[in-house]
Amino acid sequence: MKKVHIKSFGCQMNVYDGQRMADILGEQGFEETASPEGADLILLNTCHIRERAVQKVYTELGKLRDIKNAQKAEGQETRIVVAGCVAQAEGAEIQRRQPAVDLVVGPQAYHRLPELLAEAASKRVVDTDLPIEDKFGFLPAPRPQAIRARGVSAFVTVQEGCDKFCAFCVVPYTRGAEFSRPVAQVLAEVERLAESGVRDVTLIGQNVNAYHGEGPDGSVWSLARLMHRVAEVPGIARIRYTTSHPRDMDDGLVAAHRDLPQVMPFLHLPVQAGSDRILAAMNRKHTADEYRRLIDRIRQARPDIALSSDFIVGFPGETDAEFEDTIRLVDEIGFASSYSFKYSPRPGTPAADLRAQVPREIMDERLYRLQERIEHHRQAFNTAMIGREVEVLLERAGRYPGQLAGKSPYLQAVQIESETNRIGEIVRVVIERTSTNSLFGRPLPHQDGARKGMAA
Ligand code: 5AD
Ligand code: SF4
Repeated sequence: MKKVHIKSFGCQMNVYDGQRMADILGEQGFEETASPEGADLILLNTCHIRERAVQKVYTELGKLRDIKNAQKAEGQETRIVVAGCVAQAEGAEIQRRQPAVDLVVGPQAYHRLPELLAEAASKRVVDTDLPIEDKFGFLPAPRPQAIRARGVSAFVTVQEGCDKFCAFCVVPYTRGAEFSRPVAQVLAEVERLAESGVRDVTLIGQNVNAYHGEGPDGSVWSLARLMHRVAEVPGIARIRYTTSHPRDMDDGLVAAHRDLPQVMPFLHLPVQAGSDRILAAMNRKHTADEYRRLIDRIRQARPDIALSSDFIVGFPGETDAEFEDTIRLVDEIGFASSYSFKYSPRPGTPAADLRAQVPREIMDERLYRLQERIEHHRQAFNTAMIGREVEVLLERAGRYPGQLAGKSPYLQAVQIESETNRIGEIVRVVIERTSTNSLFGRPLPHQDGARKGMAA
């Protein structure tokens, strides 16, 4: 069998796309390999969200060129494919900067990989067609064996692209306009996953709660309605969704957190900043107080909900006082975890042309302070779990023999001691201690492993 090595950078959608590409290539007789050395095909699935992510791609490509040359000297042909958002944004420029690249394929064109690879045998090829001709309709269903190898938690893309146009963000340009997959297609995929042992699905989309897919009856379904239906799929014990925009958190979705036990009490809801002036300049379409009120409504529906957010420090023109508004918001809400980034100007986005770019040292200081507060709240959230009972979905072997690792409803990593392999089971666990990145718990006896995943 020919071997393909796939490396994904960036968001969860890239992980999902990487798996779909593995499925397509599997049908072409390729087997996945964990290392680029020895591979016949090396595929980088790239991210364009910040400049650093793009630099990583070129560094990686330099290393791959060396592998390609070394293998050539031994008579093995190696082909290099660049997929993902850098492929979309930079197209043929990638091959100018790194001539070892055989094929550049964008996120909406990868279902054509077999033809493109055939074409790339004789010349360099670029396919960055953006209009979504429902690539999903062309993707092969993953084989049961592939699903099992990927584990009991899976991503399912339900929505792609974005029409929000935040002033800093490349996504509307790299992933294209908002598109929702039809309900029947999503359900068929979830059912197939569940049949092969998946118990936890995360419905993903760049703007997932803007989902408006065509239902079997021809009407438009919301994300909440879709989740009600996904909750009926036998075997699916846990449902999550990401990433949401505050503007699209409708009443039905908030109510789903109250009404559907399968919907996990964890919500990633990026706010980006705490100052209304900055939020307006970012074109976020909401104020900090609107976000606070929304969180209040969600907490009313599901009091134990854990929240996470993304933050950008140093958006052009951000003053010290405006940055303090972000810190205040973080301290008020008390996020269970969060991602935070220094603003990175992206070519083609409106914010990249703004004059008042914030100096690097100030961004560094702000990021440091913000991360200190985020970490403080994360640790407080984790420590508060000690002595509590939670249901843990066991996903994989732990770090040491005799340990199993899984996830709490709040997306925390939990390790337990277990004599037997209980992967795929949901077990009740008492949390006994925490470390920087994990919780450690004792499983309670006499449980029914097939119970539906509910929060403690
Ligand atoms: N600079 C820094 N961070 C960014 N993000 C998106 N675009 C940029 C940018 N230009 C962050 C946002 C988003 C997350 C995925 O990445 O916080 O929510
Ligand atoms: Fe990166 Fe955004 Fe593309 Fe995901 S969609 S890979 S975060 S640029």
